[in-house]
Amino acid sequence: MLGDQKVVFSGVQPSGNLTIGNYLGAIKNFAAFSEEYRCFYCVVDMHAITVRQVPAELRRRTYETLALYMACGLDPEKNTLFVQSHVPAHAELAWMLNCYTMFGELSRMTQFKDKSAKHADNINAGLFTYPTLMAADILLYQTDLVPVGIDQKQHLELARNIANRFNQAYSPTFVVPEPYIAQSGMKIMSLTEPTAKMSKSDPNPNAVVYILDEKDTILRKFRRAVTDSGSEVKYEEGKDGICNLISIYRCLTGKSIEEVEREFTGKGYGDFKNACGEVCADTLAPVREEFARLNADKAYLESVMKKGAEDASRAAARTLTKVKKKLGFVV
Ligand code: TYM
Repeated sequence: MLGDQKVVFSGVQPSGNLTIGNYLGAIKNFAAFSEEYRCFYCVVDMHAITVRQVPAELRRRTYETLALYMACGLDPEKNTLFVQSHVPAHAELAWMLNCYTMFGELSRMTQFKDKSAKHADNINAGLFTYPTLMAADILLYQTDLVPVGIDQKQHLELARNIANRFNQAYSPTFVVPEPYIAQSGMKIMSLTEPTAKMSKSDPNPNAVVYILDEKDTILRKFRRAVTDSGSEVKYEEGKDGICNLISIYRCLTGKSIEEVEREFTGKGYGDFKNACGEVCADTLAPVREEFARLNADKAYLESVMKKGAEDASRAAARTLTKVKKKLGFVV
């Protein structure tokens, strides 16, 4: 809550090309909040450097992620769109919250365990304290609701624990945030290995549909999607590939599982995969066009970033000062 308005905060890492997992699990849901809530949507570049990045690519993707936010319907007049490293309060609060986060809690984070296994040569302290920076992002804005995919749920729980711990040690300081996890789309799986999450860092491009893929590429990837040896389009345990395609189709069309099953009764997997590809390509075509227009205008993107950083800094400063006073810092 900021003033008398409820707050929504979410973030996306500019660490790779964004996927339909990012779109269906998170970004697609963002715009609907802006009428009712004060919304902050952040490009979390500081989180991205927990894994080695090529500097020129990180810079390019930071602009691109901002352009994509807008291409997905986020109006910078109605939402605060900004880059994390432009608001130093995130790093400041993260340090303070590190002192209220337990080593054991961070050790239990499954994303830390996964990423440590994947990047065994670079298990840096930032990777370990990543969730505390995420808690700082959220708590700085007195956030009520955080729209994310299910893979972020554990991090959200940690943010809630940190907020409660701090509130109890001092006095109510932070709003304790709730996750908002959409029923369908919360976990879009890889097209080639449907038991694994679709991830922007997947080295196999056929596993992932990128938001900016061309129509032909999207159709081809869906056609090649791994499915089981059956032929009926039915949402059943053990049919991971088909279940994933049904989830994607549902999210894109707004239909229920039953409606999807009925629509494809008597039709084979081939027809269903084509239909998935078509609806996905049609949904993303206007996003891609708008993205191309926005991304070509760097000056405009910079003006949005600048205004976003000013608005976010103002809101963040209030919480940060409150925290410093409670801790006993001379302010
Ligand atoms: P990131 O950049 O990995 O992903 C951005 C958003 O996309 C969702 N997502 C998915 N949803 C469904 N299916 C998938 N396959 C899929 N892949 C990704 C993620 O759940 C996320 O909502 N730590 C965060 C970024 C972050 C953040 C925050 C989020 C930093 N600070 C504060 C919310 C609030 C992350 O790495 O997201």
